[in-house]
Amino acid sequence: MQSHTLLTCVFVVAVNAATLNTPSMTSVDYSKVPIKEKPLFQPPLQEIADVLSVGLTSTFETVSVSVADTPDLTQSPYNLITPGLTGNAKLVEIGGPPYLLPLVQRDKVYDLAALARHFNSDPALLAGAGAGPWPHIGVNCEGIINLSIHNGSVEQGTRIVSVEPVGAAKGTSGYLQRRLPNTETRTALLGNYLFSEGKPGKVIKVVAKKRIGPSNFITAIRETLKNHYGDDKIVGLGGLFMLRAGKVKFHVMPDFSSSALCTDADVDNWLHFFEMRAPITHVGTLVTGDHGLDLRVQHFHGFSEHGDGGHYHYDTTPDDVHYEGYFALAASIIRVDAPEETHAVGRD
Ligand SMILES: *[C@@H]1O[C@H](CO)[C@@H](O)[C@H](O)[C@H]1NC(C)=O
Ligand SMILES: *[C@@H]1O[C@H](CO)[C@@H](O)[C@H](O)[C@H]1NC(C)=O
Repeated sequence: MQSHTLLTCVFVVAVNAATLNTPSMTSVDYSKVPIKEKPLFQPPLQEIADVLSVGLTSTFETVSVSVADTPDLTQSPYNLITPGLTGNAKLVEIGGPPYLLPLVQRDKVYDLAALARHFNSDPALLAGAGAGPWPHIGVNCEGIINLSIHNGSVEQGTRIVSVEPVGAAKGTSGYLQRRLPNTETRTALLGNYLFSEGKPGKVIKVVAKKRIGPSNFITAIRETLKNHYGDDKIVGLGGLFMLRAGKVKFHVMPDFSSSALCTDADVDNWLHFFEMRAPITHVGTLVTGDHGLDLRVQHFHGFSEHGDGGHYHYDTTPDDVHYEGYFALAASIIRVDAPEETHAVGRD
């Protein structure tokens, strides 16, 4: 794993001090920030299934990939807010780690219902991994985003997970999962979402058991596709995967650091890590290239009915692990409010 150091740390810290003095709780106005959209390469679904069927065997002992209809994803154990993932499927990345590191920029609060309205999307599903709305609970948190809009009305199934008790030292803390009310549609700082109509339809279904390689489930999929399609044909998937058996290493962000986090090691020291157990539903996105948009190429957050939740790193039980994923093929990537000053710290 590459380790990144933030060369511009001193400079950014100086800028950030100014921002901190005037925290604004209003959400970012989408008509006033840069928004770019670039098409993604869309091979036939069956071709992707064939590529993954072969490529994933270096990471998992049992691999089965097919083009399938989604099961009704509103049912347990999937537990999504919409029955499917498809219908005008795109990916969206909002903000980025430079709004969190080296110091937080508290004014970067994003309303996802407003984003769907900005694009005139209704019905809409927004599902994926982002920072939860810190103004809602007063502290930084993980967001497992799971929001639908139908006929103008919001159904908010998003869960947030925060370190508990607030301020507990690393190693002594636990975590608390909560559901956001329909009236709270904000997120913060950074996020990677599938943006579709949430309709049933054809997706890539990936079942993988018993890990025999070093990559996590999503890295294995992303690298297999990248190796096949190369640097020019950028493919993006968004959706959900279940951890049906096994355990995973997650992090939960504690409250914002008051000292600057300048390296990946600083970030690792700051994050609180936990082992969590199946069944867990993960939502998020992956893309095989940066596309000149300063993208986070993979990002999934997980949620369980037994209270677990956070940011997925990898499974800790290779022999027992059992994954089942459903991924929609995205037609484009929408980049919202990309940081002008960027860096590569904190993207794992
Ligand atoms: C959506 O709104 C329209 C007009 O207000 C109404 O006719 C329709 O029945 C609504 N559909 C649903 C699914 O609520
Ligand atoms: C999504 O929201 C629905 C409705 O609240 C809930 O049943 C489900 O558990 C949520 N799923 C996730 C992954 O947050």
